[in-house]
This record gives sequence, C-alpha cells and structure tokens, in this order.
Amino acid sequence: MAVAGGPTPQTGAMTPTPDSATPSFDPARLAEMRRSYARTGLTEDDLAEHWWTQLGRWLADAQIAGLPEPNAMVLATAAVDGQPSARTVLLKGYDERGIVCYTNYNSQKGQELAANPKASCVFPWHALERQVCVVGTVTRVSREESVAYFSSRPHGSRLGAWASEQQSAVIPSRAVLEERMAELAERYPDGSEVPLPDYWGGVRLGPTTVEFWQGRENRLHDRLRFRRTPPGGWIVERLSP
Ligand SMILES: Cc1cc2nc3c(=O)[nH]c(=O)nc-3n(C[C@H](O)[C@H](O)[C@H](O)COP(=O)(O)O)c2cc1C
Repeated sequence: MAVAGGPTPQTGAMTPTPDSATPSFDPARLAEMRRSYARTGLTEDDLAEHWWTQLGRWLADAQIAGLPEPNAMVLATAAVDGQPSARTVLLKGYDERGIVCYTNYNSQKGQELAANPKASCVFPWHALERQVCVVGTVTRVSREESVAYFSSRPHGSRLGAWASEQQSAVIPSRAVLEERMAELAERYPDGSEVPLPDYWGGVRLGPTTVEFWQGRENRLHDRLRFRRTPPGGWIVERLSP
C-alpha cells in the first residue's frame, strides 16, 4: 500500500488512496458488477498438444499484455480436517512434471502440504478473460533445485527467508522482524553468500488435471481440460461452462 512518503509506485501500478481517505464501498453495487466476455475463443484446434506448452503460450500472452505479476497464481491447500486455505504465490518453473513455486516449509501451506499433498492452483488472468486451474499432488523439488533458485534471489529476499523462519506464526510486532533483519544484514553483508535455510525450498504440483478457461459471450465459456490417464497419457475434454 502506497502511503505519503512511501516508495514510488512502479510504472503502471495503481496507487491506492491511504486507508483513512478511501471512500466506503456500497455492497448493493456488487449485484450490478458484471462484464461480458468476448475477446476470443478457445477451440480444440487452438490448443497445444501438451498442457505445459499451452500454459507457456498463455503466460507469454499475459506478459505481452502487461498484466501485473503474470506468473502469480492462487495456491489452495487443505488441512487434514478438510479445511481449505488459499494464498497467492509466484510460479517459478514448469515442465511436463508440473508447476513449481518456492516457499517456507514451516508455513501454514508447508505444513498442510506435508500432511496432505493434494493441492490446486489458479492463474487469474482476468484482463485476458482467462484462468488456468491446476489440480494435483505436490512433492518437494530437489535440494539442488532449491539452492539454485535461492541463489538467484536478491540478497534482501534471501535474508528475509531467514528473518521469517516460522512463516505464518503470530509475531509480537513488526519491530521484532526488523531487528532480526538488521542482525542478519550484519552477519551476511551485501555480496556475501547467504545459505539456503533447510526449511525453505520449492514445491512442485504434479497435475492430474489442467483446465484452460476462456470467457465467452452469454457465459458460454470455453473450458478445455487436460486430464491425466494412467500410465502417463493425457486426454483433452470440453467441460460445460
Ligand atoms: C503477488 C504475491 C506473490 C507472492 N508470492 C509468494 C511466493 O512465491 N511464495 C510464498 O511463500 N509466498 C508468496 N506470497 C505470500 C503468500 O501469499 C502468503 O502470504 C505466504 O506464503 C504465507 O502463506 P500461508 O500462511 O498460507 O502459508 C505472495 C503474495 C503475493 C500477494
């Protein structure tokens, strides 16, 4: 949230008004808020042979269209009692094995995935009237892969992973976090090697289904779904909108 004296927003980013000056929203307006989707369609002939190729095409479209955070996706996990939870993460890799993001294994999502590896992800590309929904099972990526990715992160982000060892835990104040960050900055000055914490790394969602959704007029949307058919093949099915 940009506040007076805060950082300059990135080019193209919207600047929210400070909370105290934000006008209230009338919930009665929600029923009227709808758009017609008519940009384009998605046919079986348009679709790439493999879901990962199609995902790459749509990622490229999202990037070319200038969407903010085109690789952001909403990752849903579920606790063993069945309670789901969802949050945004960034896609950092994909291939025929699945889609990869990086996180703290101690976090809520990390603990839920350790106990119940079933998960789902949605890429919400609303400006393109598209979404991609992935459902499957999560495994951790190799330590080597995590080291390679962690080393590519900016120095401050690497320190941040150490400062927030127990991600998702309740903390007493922001000051505690900043003190820890200052200690870490002294221990690992700019340019020094910051090791990968053992509680931090990648997770790969290996899909059983990947659905490509394109909005159409009158809510007759195109929904084409790749479904894995053991032992390792894929079929494409059209779903009712
Ligand atoms: C645009 C965006 C990108 C994010 N990317 C990541 C990410 O790649 N990995 C991550 O652990 N958290 C990421 N977060 C923060 C998560 O949404 C979440 O707050 C955090 O991982 C803790 O989630 P949990 O308590 O449900 O485990 C991102 C948040 C936003 C808004």
